[in-house]
Amino acid sequence: MKYKSLVAVASVVLLFAGLAEAAKKAPVAKKDFVGSKACKKCHVDEYNSWKESYHSKIVQPKKRGILREAVEKWAGDGTNPGPTTGNVTGGTFKLEDVQFVVGSRWKQRYLVKNELTGNLQFLNMQFNRSTGKWEKYGQKNDWNTMCASCHTTGYRITEYDETAGKTVKSKFVEMSVGCEACHGPGSVHVKTRKKKDIFNPAGVDIMAQSRVCGYCHIRLENEKWKSAQGNPREDFPAPKVGEAYIAGTDWTKWYPEEVIIPGVQAKHPFDAEYVGDLKGLFKIDEAAKASGVYEEAKHHQEYQGFIQSAHFKKGEMSCITCHSPHAGKGKLKKMPKDACAKCHDASYTVEKYMPNTGQTAGNLFVRSHTFNKTPRKGGPGAAEMGPPNYYH
Ligand code: HEC
Ligand code: HEC
Ligand code: HEC
Ligand code: HEC
Ligand code: HEC
Ligand code: HEC
Repeated sequence: MKYKSLVAVASVVLLFAGLAEAAKKAPVAKKDFVGSKACKKCHVDEYNSWKESYHSKIVQPKKRGILREAVEKWAGDGTNPGPTTGNVTGGTFKLEDVQFVVGSRWKQRYLVKNELTGNLQFLNMQFNRSTGKWEKYGQKNDWNTMCASCHTTGYRITEYDETAGKTVKSKFVEMSVGCEACHGPGSVHVKTRKKKDIFNPAGVDIMAQSRVCGYCHIRLENEKWKSAQGNPREDFPAPKVGEAYIAGTDWTKWYPEEVIIPGVQAKHPFDAEYVGDLKGLFKIDEAAKASGVYEEAKHHQEYQGFIQSAHFKKGEMSCITCHSPHAGKGKLKKMPKDACAKCHDASYTVEKYMPNTGQTAGNLFVRSHTFNKTPRKGGPGAAEMGPPNYYH
């Protein structure tokens, strides 16, 4: 039976149970997602600082988000041609067909419509800002079912046929990582303006703070929920069909058995076995085996790196000790690089202890967060690149 019909039956049952309940006491409004624009009028500083951050820019319409350098080189003189085919359907596409772009800081990927599913699929090349060149990109799943839960806000699966694994429909409230990705649904708070109606990551215990970020800054393999093409998802499912993940809830408690999350699940610890299970996620060498510290080998694994560090284990700090999306009136922008000097001597530098180990594109890497005493050598990172320059 399709989940959708199960949900429909369940909703009818719940509706009657709900009506009986409502007769006894006044109903409590269900919190839902309203989008970042709804927060702007009362939180201008937070809104503006977020707008400047990359969280607000991971997925953008082509018109405001496509890189100038990429457009200039698209087709060009033919020595470094841009993308031409859609990875899922193999159809031919041109620059005009691009609807959205993904990323702009390190690399950029391009979304065109998948006519078969109605979702968005990737083009076969990505632009690497470090080398200034197009390179191959082979993602053969729709963006909506492989990437969107970490790149949108209020994401939920609306229809899922487990037996076929191919009927997957989803929706979200906002493209990119909006306010409510970290603060939870705001519909009640925008009306009451009360503190108790909105989640603040700063108000929970130190390990729970890092989990707010860890939901996305992680890498996993999800055998339970499949993409529209029937492949294991690389993200979490929504807790149930029709429901969205809510910041502040402990996702480590509700993931299905079939999801492999190294380091997070007791039965999937950081160890050499993962070479076999999830290829290339962590650097497995003699040093790692001896120290038990497995450095991130790919990007968006910061949470899995960080939970291995003394910083995390001692309960001394969370992601938000060093990072904040906010600045503004009376609040300076947190510079993560300046944090070390608060607790360590000058020999503790970011360059020395946070090498660029997590690969994000050809010869381009992001920083390790294991805070390993004897880190391996890293590759080139984002520091050398300037801010992106958009075409329109
Ligand atoms: C109509 C005005 C209004 C809107 C719209 C609004 N807020 Fe607020 N918000 C407030 C006020 C007032 C407070 C301070 C409440 C207090 O101190 O009791 C607050 C406090 C907060 C806090 C701090 C809570 C804490 O525990 O310290 C957060 C986080 C927050 N808002 C997020 C949001 C988000 C996200 C949105 C959009 C979904 C939003 N707000 C929309 C008025 C608003
Ligand atoms: C819904 C998913 C999601 C959540 C939750 C999330 N992030 Fe991110 N984060 C992203 C994505 C996607 C990017 C890449 C944005 C880009 O490059 O356009 C990113 C980029 C970043 C960056 C680098 C870019 C920048 O603007 O500085 C930092 C640092 C960061 N996140 C820290 C955090 C912290 C700290 C938290 C928790 C308070 C957090 N993130 C929560 C998805 C998320
Ligand atoms: C589990 C959450 C998650 C999933 C799933 C995910 N991403 Fe990301 N992505 C992130 C985070 C977090 C970052 C930023 C941090 C980093 O790169 O280390 C990021 C960064 C990126 C960037 C670089 C952004 C920039 O400004 O250069 C691109 C491009 C990207 N993702 C594309 C994808 C694509 C395509 C998919 C699906 C195949 C995908 N992501 C799936 C969380 C995720
Ligand atoms: C990547 C996660 C993330 C996103 C996205 C985000 N916030 Fe926050 N927000 C935080 C964290 C963490 C804090 C705790 C204080 C801090 O670290 O600055 C916070 C604190 C706040 C506060 C309390 C006052 C303060 O500055 O400490 C308000 C209000 C707020 N956020 C509103 C917003 C609004 C409005 C948006 C969207 C325009 C937004 N936030 C987007 C993570 C986020
Ligand atoms: C809030 C204080 C604080 C900040 C900020 C901080 N550290 Fe630490 N750091 C610690 C503590 C506490 C330990 C654990 C020491 C121990 O195990 O006895 C530690 C351990 C380490 C270690 C493990 C090796 C060792 O000497 O134990 C490294 C490497 C490290 N920090 C690097 C950094 C870097 C790089 C930064 C800045 C990005 C930084 N730290 C920021 C408090 C801090
Ligand atoms: C002890 C301080 C510290 C903590 C704790 C910390 N970070 Fe970082 N993070 C840094 C520094 C320093 C950088 C490099 C910033 C720069 O180059 O300007 C960085 C960079 C990043 C980047 C961008 C990647 C890059 O190569 O620039 C992301 C994404 C990120 N951190 C996410 C997280 C997340 C998620 C957590 C928690 C799981 C976290 N960080 C915890 C200090 C910290």
